[in-house]
Amino acid sequence: MNPSIAELFERREHERYALHSRHLDEQMVRVLRTIGYDVGFCRAEGQYLYDREGSRYLDLLSGFGVFALGRNHPAVREALKCVLDSELPNLVQMDVSTLAGILAERLLTWVPYLDKVFFANSGAEAVEAAIKFARAATGRSGIVYCDHAFHGLSYGALSLNGDHVFRDGFGPLLPDCHRVPFNNLFALEKALHTREMAAFIVEPIQGKGVNLPDDDYLKNAADLCRRHGTLFVADEIQTGLGRTGRFLAVEHWNVEPDMVLLAKALSGGHVPVSAVLTRRRIFERVFDRLDRAVIHGSTFGKNDLAMAAGIATLDVLASQGLIENAARTGDYLARVLAAMRTRYELLKDVRGKGLMIGIEFGSSTSSLRLRASWNALEAANKGLFCQLITIPLFRDHRILSQVAGHGSHTIKLLPPLVISREDCNWILDAFDAVIAGGHRVPGAIWSLGRTLVGHAMRASG
Ligand SMILES: Cc1ncc(COP(=O)(O)O)c(C=O)c1O
Repeated sequence: MNPSIAELFERREHERYALHSRHLDEQMVRVLRTIGYDVGFCRAEGQYLYDREGSRYLDLLSGFGVFALGRNHPAVREALKCVLDSELPNLVQMDVSTLAGILAERLLTWVPYLDKVFFANSGAEAVEAAIKFARAATGRSGIVYCDHAFHGLSYGALSLNGDHVFRDGFGPLLPDCHRVPFNNLFALEKALHTREMAAFIVEPIQGKGVNLPDDDYLKNAADLCRRHGTLFVADEIQTGLGRTGRFLAVEHWNVEPDMVLLAKALSGGHVPVSAVLTRRRIFERVFDRLDRAVIHGSTFGKNDLAMAAGIATLDVLASQGLIENAARTGDYLARVLAAMRTRYELLKDVRGKGLMIGIEFGSSTSSLRLRASWNALEAANKGLFCQLITIPLFRDHRILSQVAGHGSHTIKLLPPLVISREDCNWILDAFDAVIAGGHRVPGAIWSLGRTLVGHAMRASG
């Protein structure tokens, strides 16, 4: 008899890095080995990961934001098992899905000013749909996006990417996409006044860098869009579903977009899914005739597993008060981290909303030694300082975190929304200890910097 998946995992997990090197992305394995992250995670529950030795790690990355409920949430597992055990008529295609109808109905109760939902399988697919819907609805082709934006890596989404590192080498990209600086209404108006722009697509809080809008930016941007006949599209793929302490991040600024894009956390992390929530008039310009009933879609969109996981996720968000927990714990974390600035001059800024927090570092202003070390590191490898924080956080404190983009000086915290006060204190103690280490020159952190620079130089030949 064939081994079960659990038996297969147990039998062969020690080969995972060899298998990946051989058959998948070898560079990823090299990265993990270089930074000491190759601990072989074997189990996960809620906000915790467990390695081969059974050591527990606190996950502040949550699979790039998909595990808002924590990993393997019992309610989502139950919903998925129930779908499999119920012999539902999944993906008939020449029928419509009951579960998709229910999930759409429930999503729209959270966003009552929108009327229709389109389901797809990933964030990037939701962005592609939004581009097509905006063009079809307005008869215009231009799309405006922001510097530092991240909307996914398929061609349409990549054409709206505000970072050359992702774009370089893949051109030509989609024509008629126009970049404007984030938080700059003057530049936005200049782009819109041609009246050729179908949509302005923006993340309410930018994931790359954790950049927050000025208080009046999104509201005024939405007004400008309305005035110029451009659709205002909020990419809430990372910020939505409670992440920032509200169901949608735009609620912090009382903005009602024409389209809202959701993905990541929508299925509790188990099944790829995304959703475009739109106004009726937009939707009806796309699906406008009998012969266009399937003019846009994808084979697995609306599949029962994704829809059931989505329904369970919305139930858990509400019944377990996770949005409120994100607001409360996020506020506590950001407040205590910000207070550390008085002790650590390399700590420049702490910003965010709810459990999307950016911790930014910068050069020393008073200590010559620190400044010289910072400048030498920057000259060798821009943004490497953050790795000197995340690596000891992982190795010495068992905290998994990430740098908020290429060359970024900001570490991003994106934990599951279920974290407790005890977890917060784990985070705060760990950051305190590691940042303190970063202020000691010479010290272990700066010699780690020299080692990593050495690795990078050898790797580049
Ligand atoms: C704001 C935002 N939009 C779109 C995407 C793309 O989502 P996916 O990776 O599911 O295609 C991401 C992914 O990180 C994102 O953060």
